[in-house]
Amino acid sequence: MSRTRTLFRCRDCGHAETKWAGRCPACGAWSTIEEEVVTATGGSSVDERASAPADVALPIDQIDFAEWVAVPTGLDEVDRVLGGGLVPGSVTLVHGEPGIGKSTLLLQIVRGVAAGGRRALYLTAEESKQQVRLRAERLGTLHPELWLASETDVVNVLHHIAQVKPDVVVVDSIQTISDPALSSAPGTVVQVRESANRLVQVAKSTGIAIILVGHVTKDGALAGPRVLEHLVDTVLGFEGDRHHAMRMLRATKHRFGSTDETGVFAMSEGGLVTVTDPSSIFLADRAQGVSGSIVAPTIDGHRPILVEIQALMVDTTMAVPRRSAEGVDPGRLGFLLAVLEKRAGISFDRREVYALAVGGVQVREPGADLALCLALASARQNVVLPPDLVACGEVGLGGELRRVTHLERRLTEAARLGLRRAIIPANAPPSPPGVHELRAADVGEALRLAGFGRPRGGTDLESAE
Ligand code: TYD
Ligand code: MG
Repeated sequence: MSRTRTLFRCRDCGHAETKWAGRCPACGAWSTIEEEVVTATGGSSVDERASAPADVALPIDQIDFAEWVAVPTGLDEVDRVLGGGLVPGSVTLVHGEPGIGKSTLLLQIVRGVAAGGRRALYLTAEESKQQVRLRAERLGTLHPELWLASETDVVNVLHHIAQVKPDVVVVDSIQTISDPALSSAPGTVVQVRESANRLVQVAKSTGIAIILVGHVTKDGALAGPRVLEHLVDTVLGFEGDRHHAMRMLRATKHRFGSTDETGVFAMSEGGLVTVTDPSSIFLADRAQGVSGSIVAPTIDGHRPILVEIQALMVDTTMAVPRRSAEGVDPGRLGFLLAVLEKRAGISFDRREVYALAVGGVQVREPGADLALCLALASARQNVVLPPDLVACGEVGLGGELRRVTHLERRLTEAARLGLRRAIIPANAPPSPPGVHELRAADVGEALRLAGFGRPRGGTDLESAE
């Protein structure tokens, strides 16, 4: 016995309601609720089932896993994020904004898989085969074991997989794959989830590793890959600023390893190239002798990355002066301006404030608070900070400095690039050798150590030389 009923589901977060609503009550997104027809069949009991299950339960130490070792992708930065490579039978979702370089990355991954002696199948549902071949030619990724098909129907996709018998499959993108037998339009949550479900089943039953590409736009216009996150084993975000070359690959979910590693690439004429030393690229064009600039030693996963933080002030007569934050959190900027005003007596009244993390990076961690405070104070008072100074520390509402994670790793990276003076929280663990540390309990003390509010020639920094 089966019966059908109608549900209304948010295409962003997957939340279901019995009534349509303009706004999803779970995630708060507007205009994301779509109608979905569900066919429910009555559950069956053990007695009703004619056959025994295909799989049998075994003691855990008797489960054979020898064939389930990761297949390297041949791209070191990808293998580092995946903890070795693609696990057979796994499903990975790679998501990112349109144009960020997902297709380029995946073409390079399948080429690496093919070059490693395995067969890869690239299914393009957005571009023609000819387009993909031309791009592959330009990237130098042609390989006889790299197979290509242009397909949007999920049943045909399964057919191609059965025919080619690849080790790794890429579906680019999951939003353009659909089942014409379903009444919903391609790209809707029903279609995306159904196609992904079928591909997950194929991966699990055959041991083929499948990579799904998913688009996210800032306004969530396409079926949100968030719906897919539960279905897949691994979720990788490919991020960056389209106007800058740097791209980062991060795992937000990974059933086979840690989610702490970050892969760093640069988009070049010949595709994505590995960046082994992101810090020196971020600091390459640093101007000397300009106020409002300091380096923050940040941590991305396990990797220390030095980022230049800049601030600029402009006089204004506006009652509500402009606050602009790029690469740093606007909320955090407002918070730190308030702390500087209240705890260090620096007023930003009648001044437009611009704050920037240079190079298109997003600095999201509170460990960069102190560096941002020093950049703001430096811009405000037109004091040039020493070029070899870095600062680490989270700032609290009381102006107090709190410890940050992995301080040693951050300062070692700074020292490697010649930045040997560091302002750190008073109770931080010891700095690595070769670093001249200056300890401060609060923002006011950190500002004094950096040379603010003292007569020229009398700073702790100068006496340290
Ligand atoms: P693409 O991989 O098509 O992005 P996505 O699949 O995420 O939509 O690549 C997008 C951009 O990358 C494209 O606008 C041009 C740039 N690009 C390069 O700079 N160099 C290259 O070698 C390639 C292939 C692309
Ligand atoms: Mg693409």
